[in-house]
Amino acid sequence: MMLPEVFLSKKYSKSTIIIHWLSFAGILALIPMGFYMSDLPIGESKLTLYKAHAAIGIVILLLTLFRVFIFFKHERPPGLETGSVFHNKLIIWIHNAFYFVILLLCFSGIVTLIQSGAGSALQSGDFNNLPQEMNVPPLTGHQILAKIFIALLLAHIGRVANHYIKTKENTLKRIF
Ligand code: HEM
Repeated sequence: MMLPEVFLSKKYSKSTIIIHWLSFAGILALIPMGFYMSDLPIGESKLTLYKAHAAIGIVILLLTLFRVFIFFKHERPPGLETGSVFHNKLIIWIHNAFYFVILLLCFSGIVTLIQSGAGSALQSGDFNNLPQEMNVPPLTGHQILAKIFIALLLAHIGRVANHYIKTKENTLKRIF
């Protein structure tokens, strides 16, 4: 179904657009970094990557909290009208799920660092203090959430692409 022009001409606020693309870039770096660093043997590189992962993750946490605040404060462009009530609701739920999953990912990452003892190694700057095993329950949560996030991201990208293929309408204009 084609969208009325008003849907494509209205944009998100400047701050939402900046946060959206900064978060996108940061998370795109965090995912491969997370998988890579967890397989590394204990050493200087593992410690450096843990530090970078935690620093970028905390920036994403702050950006997301700020974005949720803007979400409630600023006017937003109208929701997309797809012609299917189910599809319209699905879009809203995928968007809401992003906020929840990102916040939970960040919290579970922070608790993993604290509970495993890796946090103190980061503070001391000595890789010898890194734990031999990271096996703490919040890490399992972090791993599952990372996979849920990847699925959401693929669904999100797939939907934008599918809408473009069907209607030739570029809904990305709203977030650029
Ligand atoms: C949007 C935010 C984040 C994303 C997308 C993300 C992604 C990932 C991924 C994909 C992994 C690898 C999981 C696996 O081995 O299956 C991982 C591991 C990890 N992440 Fe994150 N992360 C995020 C935020 C954070 C934050 C804020 C912290 C801490 C401050 C953190 C700390 C960790 C730790 C400690 C590990 C475990 C490394 C290991 O197993 O040796 N993450 N993360």
